[in-house]
Amino acid sequence: MTTVRAKDLAKEAEMTLAGKTVVVTGGASGIGAAVARLLARDGAAVVIGDLSSDGASVVESFAQDGAVVDFIRTDVTDEQSVARLMDDTMEKFGRLDVLVANAGVPEQKGPVHELDLTTWQRVLDINLTGVVLCNKHAVAKMLQSGGGSIINMASILAHVGQANSTAYSAAKAAVVNFTRSAALTYAQQNIRFNCVSPGYVSTPLLAELPATTRAQMLGKMPIGRLLQPDEIAEVVRFLASDRSSSLTGSVINADGGYTAA
Ligand SMILES: NC(=O)c1ccc[n+]([C@@H]2O[C@H](COP(=O)([O-])OP(=O)(O)OC[C@H]3O[C@@H](n4cnc5c(N)ncnc54)[C@H](O)[C@@H]3O)[C@@H](O)[C@H]2O)c1
Repeated sequence: MTTVRAKDLAKEAEMTLAGKTVVVTGGASGIGAAVARLLARDGAAVVIGDLSSDGASVVESFAQDGAVVDFIRTDVTDEQSVARLMDDTMEKFGRLDVLVANAGVPEQKGPVHELDLTTWQRVLDINLTGVVLCNKHAVAKMLQSGGGSIINMASILAHVGQANSTAYSAAKAAVVNFTRSAALTYAQQNIRFNCVSPGYVSTPLLAELPATTRAQMLGKMPIGRLLQPDEIAEVVRFLASDRSSSLTGSVINADGGYTAA
């Protein structure tokens, strides 16, 4: 009997997001799907906003665990689509407490003198403007909910350069400094803004890259392996919860030591 009670208390203590509503963009795959799953298990109502209709099957798989999850097809580069994501979330759950602006794409690598402006613009639209639009419309709702926590997904390439990876690096570096300035703007209004900068994580985004590139990536990870999406989700969980109340304008490098070198 005592054991059961102790277990219940432990479970309650782990439910750090009970009563909170979370929007995760790019939650149909990889890191976003892991974040959505972990935060839902932690008691949050989670809304996945993703361009891919795979989001619907991700939601079905979580719902079997009794999680409260929803999928709203969203293009983060389209302001109306982003506004609808936040409006529908508020209508259904009555509040928005956490945004994980995670949707992102890799780039077709190449030297600057061969830069194709359409490709450059697409990477900037999704990886930077998409984050900004989601932050804009989430903040408007968080001001109504009395505060919130925003986690923007950056990358190690926000902090170090990589040959032939200019658009992605530029977009991610801009996300970091956008986050810092937004943190200062809303510091008195109980809305915290932080970034996570993952190292190389084993997701479909990496699977799209050539095998030689993936082998080079592995060689650059001091811990000698690629990270798993769940490891990044743990960091996001901390930033989403009130346990990280002292952090705003911060960047956590969840990178297996990559940027320590
Ligand atoms: N995988 C890594 O090694 C790594 C490393 C550092 C940073 N990141 C970042 O983490 C985030 C997630 O990456 P991942 O590896 O899980 O990728 P992934 O490809 O597995 O998932 C990305 C998701 O974003 C969605 N998406 C793409 N364009 C969108 C749009 N316009 N609107 C809405 N959704 C859109 C995709 O449909 C997909 O579900 C990205 O921002 C990425 O840059 C990944």
